[in-house]
Amino acid sequence: MEIRTLNTQAEWDAYYHLRWEVLRKPWNQPLGSAKDIDENAFYHIAAFEDEKILGVGCLKMINEHEAQVRFMAVANSVQRKGVGVSLMNALEVEAFSRDAKKVVLHAREISIPFYEYCGYTIIEKSYLLFDSIQHYLMSKEI
Ligand SMILES: CC(C)(COP(=O)(O)OP(=O)(O)OC[C@H]1O[C@@H](n2cnc3c(N)ncnc32)[C@H](O)[C@@H]1OP(=O)(O)O)[C@@H](O)C(=O)NCCC(=O)NCCS
Repeated sequence: MEIRTLNTQAEWDAYYHLRWEVLRKPWNQPLGSAKDIDENAFYHIAAFEDEKILGVGCLKMINEHEAQVRFMAVANSVQRKGVGVSLMNALEVEAFSRDAKKVVLHAREISIPFYEYCGYTIIEKSYLLFDSIQHYLMSKEI
């Protein structure tokens, strides 16, 4: 498995498609619904195996010393095989290189054990997505 940034348009298409498939499609959200207006400012990475994208994630600097992990998604067929942890490690390395002292994220309730495994702790309950998915603000000093 290789963790790296995206190079070609086909890779970018696959990147956004996987994000949509895992994080939006199950809630009947349209293709393209999993994109923010400031995506260009994010650092995007994907996990590749034989040219196929297995997982995606991105990082945004929210102030001088604080980064936020966003849109983490691993393909359903390869979850619980270490792809998520590898992506988080790479995002934290990037955050550190950008002088971040802390990484925050809004975790879906179901993914809290994963982020705890990665060393994050819950700060507070945050927003409710699609009237059903409770999120929790979590953070980690790096
Ligand atoms: C959450 C997610 C990114 C984790 O990625 P992953 O590749 O499946 O996770 P990993 O294999 O790297 O997990 C590492 C460890 O985290 C913990 N963990 C991960 N998923 C877990 C789960 N569903 N329940 C309990 N523990 C979990 C385990 O300790 C796991 O180690 P183990 O499998 O040896 O026990 C991925 O499952 C996913 O995309 N889920 C659906 C979308 C989602 O919720 N994204 C996050 C939005 S905030």
